[in-house]
Amino acid sequence: MLSDTVTNVDTIIDRYPGQPEYLIFLLQDIQAEYNYVSPEAMQLVADHTGVPLSRVYAVATFYQSFSLEPKGEHEIRVCMGTACHLKGSGRIVEDLERRLGVEAGHTTEDLSFTLETVNCLGACALAPVMVADEEYHPTVTSQKINKMLKQLTQE
Ligand code: FES
Repeated sequence: MLSDTVTNVDTIIDRYPGQPEYLIFLLQDIQAEYNYVSPEAMQLVADHTGVPLSRVYAVATFYQSFSLEPKGEHEIRVCMGTACHLKGSGRIVEDLERRLGVEAGHTTEDLSFTLETVNCLGACALAPVMVADEEYHPTVTSQKINKMLKQLTQE
């Protein structure tokens, strides 16, 4: 399994010349392919570009578009912006953490779900809001969470 990953990362790495200015392109392609950048991939990128591993790691952690953890099949994002917070989004996060058995910012062990919090989803009038696999869920309640999870697990 690991060797498959390494082989495929090698294929991505071969797309770019071994120079530091291609660091971001490489990380973007790896992120796009695997939905995260593994420590092994970062080492390969460092070796290829000549950028120190600590710098590759710093870049990968600086940009929010890179994830250092594998993402789940389904991604749930709960808004913790002011409007949603005032309407109880903290309880929604706790509810989801309990049901999924994972803390916000992490992925379930079986890689089914990733639970994230975000600052504003741009739909404050519909607070509290969550997005599950790009589908917006307005005025979230415990019942709506039930329905959403049932729907996602049946897919
Ligand atoms: S604060 Fe939640 S959508 Fe804006």
